Amino acid sequence: MSPKTPYEMLGEEGVRRLAHTFYDVMDELPQAADIRAMHAKNMDEIKEKLTDYLTGWMGGPPRYHQKTGTVCLTDPHEPYAIGPKERDQWLLCMDTALERIGACDELKTMLKSPMYMIADTVRNQDN
Ligand code: HEM
Repeated sequence: MSPKTPYEMLGEEGVRRLAHTFYDVMDELPQAADIRAMHAKNMDEIKEKLTDYLTGWMGGPPRYHQKTGTVCLTDPHEPYAIGPKERDQWLLCMDTALERIGACDELKTMLKSPMYMIADTVRNQDN
């Protein structure tokens, strides 16, 4: 049997819960204030976009690609200065969201390095 993808482990609803919780955490955590300030006041739309993105990235249907024609994250982040500090705030929100939705240790371990890599790819400043 082939190993399960993160999408299979979380399920469609679980990925949605993760993406929505991610922005709720960003809204709440004082340590994420810098990146919260970059986002719109109302994050309903971005919650859905991240749900679509993570669904495909985690091995599910490629919803973001179907809607936008790309999975490249460089252009949408280009207007924002994202250095190591912003990347680490983003990762803190993701780690906290994974905790909050009750993700199992296996999934958290599986995602650790790929999440770092994708966040570091979005980084567009050295410091
Ligand atoms: C590294 C730190 C990151 C910061 C500071 C950051 C910040 C932002 C900001 C400010 C926006 C625009 C939000 C808006 O329109 O209100 C955005 C859009 C977005 N971000 Fe990030 N982001 C980061 C990393 C990531 C990562 C790692 C992913 C995916 C795993 C991601 C997925 C997205 C998506 C899907 C959008 C929407 C793009 C679109 O409009 O199609 N971001 N991000």
